Amino acid sequence: MSVESTIARGAVHDAIEIIPTGAALGAQVQGVDLRSLDDRQFAALKRAWHQHQVLLVRGQTLSDQDLVAFSRRFGDLDLAPVQETGRRFVEGIPEIYIVSNVRVNGEPIGSLGAGEAVWHTDMSYLEVPPMASMLYAIEVPPVGGNTSFCSMYAIYDALPAETKRRIATLKIKHDGTYNSGGYVRQGVTPTDDPRTSPGAVHPLVCVHPDTGRQMLYLGRRRNAYLLGLELGESEALLDELWTYVERAEFSWEHIWRVGDLVMWDNRCTMHRRDPFDDSTRRIMHRTQIKGHARPA
Ligand code: OGA
Ligand code: MN
Repeated sequence: MSVESTIARGAVHDAIEIIPTGAALGAQVQGVDLRSLDDRQFAALKRAWHQHQVLLVRGQTLSDQDLVAFSRRFGDLDLAPVQETGRRFVEGIPEIYIVSNVRVNGEPIGSLGAGEAVWHTDMSYLEVPPMASMLYAIEVPPVGGNTSFCSMYAIYDALPAETKRRIATLKIKHDGTYNSGGYVRQGVTPTDDPRTSPGAVHPLVCVHPDTGRQMLYLGRRRNAYLLGLELGESEALLDELWTYVERAEFSWEHIWRVGDLVMWDNRCTMHRRDPFDDSTRRIMHRTQIKGHARPA
């Protein structure tokens, strides 16, 4: 057990146990049932989340209503994006987004299929993107479909001083054309010119509103564009910044079990998913918690 988890347990009666992954980000929370956290446990969990950026809670039994109720303790929820087929996911619960390859009567019940989902943050094509997402595992394949997370604090910190100076005041467009599985979003006509594709413009370097830490805010690579730069210059600088994302030292990989709840800070982390065998089943339910302000 780490020093931190010992303290968390010893100092506060009923406190939760927090075990850092040892990677650049992520911690597991033990000894909690997310349906019945008291206020003190919730406060400890929220502190740990700010510190570790991604939390894993195993062994949960959550209905969609439970997932929505726990998510609401962090704030108002964003409605789920419309599914690739144009349908909403869960009848009567528009906050739930389903990530799944399962088909019923030939129709996918969720998004993202069984392929790779490339590095991204969720819904940053919005002016005010969600501050957090929670993903709850209902069915997982025997192999594959692992999800990795990277710390955009750690990546920013690792940049050379010269690069930090160069990017300090740049703005970046986060593309709204494609989702992370490469599918075109509902209602969008795809263009592959990053200068004209739809999306939201955010600062490339942001200050996290809760922690005050600086982070690199990339969103996703495809159709990203650094405003005011020649296209070639924008592409070259983005490629250079993205080499940091690929470095294992800034990430943590999660191998799912049924009953896992993972919540990530959608401002200071990105995530990606490995592909898996489409003849196996993977069903995850997600909520997304509204952000308070435009990234700054
Ligand atoms: C998501 C997402 C990846 C996964 O739900 O936002 O990117 O592992 N999911 O299912
Ligand atoms: Mn995602």
